Amino acid sequence: MTKSDMVGFGWKQKPAAYAKVYDHLDETYHHFYSKSAARLCQLARLQPGQTVIDLGCGTGTSTAVFWKAISPSGHLFAIDPSEAMLSCAREKLSQNKRIQWMCEDGYNILSLCQQLNLLGKIDCVLSSWTYYYLYEDREQLHRDIHTLLRPGGKWAFNITTCTSPIECGGETYNQFSRIYDFTLNRVLREKGYQPDAGRTTYDPQFHSPEPNRIMLSRVGFASVETEAWPLPLSPSEAHAFLLEGFVRHGAKPVFSKTLESLSIPKRVQLLEETLSSCSNELNATGEVPHILNVWAVK
Ligand SMILES: C[S@@+](CC[C@H](N)C(=O)[O-])C[C@H]1O[C@@H](n2cnc3c(N)ncnc32)[C@H](O)[C@@H]1O
Repeated sequence: MTKSDMVGFGWKQKPAAYAKVYDHLDETYHHFYSKSAARLCQLARLQPGQTVIDLGCGTGTSTAVFWKAISPSGHLFAIDPSEAMLSCAREKLSQNKRIQWMCEDGYNILSLCQQLNLLGKIDCVLSSWTYYYLYEDREQLHRDIHTLLRPGGKWAFNITTCTSPIECGGETYNQFSRIYDFTLNRVLREKGYQPDAGRTTYDPQFHSPEPNRIMLSRVGFASVETEAWPLPLSPSEAHAFLLEGFVRHGAKPVFSKTLESLSIPKRVQLLEETLSSCSNELNATGEVPHILNVWAVK
């Protein structure tokens, strides 16, 4: 089984109807996508007039935020392999002729820059809520981005594990997820399914920023900084948006072997039951879901 099978979300095949569902998540959940993108702009210190790339632009939520930071004279190249997501983005931002849309896999970023004669001229590459899907060879991606940036250029992205524990700066975040896992196992047991032995993850690179820090330094970035950043969501909202925006539309619940073996409607039903049963307890922890931001300077 390839890693792509494990994530199994099939972005390239997603229909236009899904792009519309995705596009509403930002508004429904306190603009957390826009705010995440705005935080990346701050960390990368985007300036008006800069030439930047939005890697995995989706329906344009991050693109609009990045554009605001470099307008009116900047140039933005927005890359996404999903025609449905990209069409939605183009429709929303069609009046802006300084944004160039490219229906491409992010792994082609270096050859795209070569074709456009932009090698060594890019001020910043930003990628919001997309790095999870770039699983084939992250070190090569970092190396390519290092090559296409100008000296002093920046690469800023987020690692969006907001419902599993993460470590950063000696602190552990998202501990509320243990309550959720415990409740899910109770629900599974009550319904006659095998409970999970423990939270499973397909990608240990997401437990902390350290593996990425090491890779980024190895490919030549002069400085790498990281932070845990609080989302404008409660713990129950973080679980709800993943369920409504992703699991309901076919994303594999990679944290549970038992759920992975069940049909999508069954997974959704069990997760709905889990969430309604532990929402109050999750929120009573007073915890705030965090993601990791990483920014590196060439
Ligand atoms: C969760 S969305 C994030 C979209 C946008 N950045 C935002 O903040 O709303 C993830 C996006 O990554 C894109 N994506 C998936 N695989 C990709 C790849 N290999 N290269 C570039 N983008 C990819 C998907 O098509 C999708 O639009």
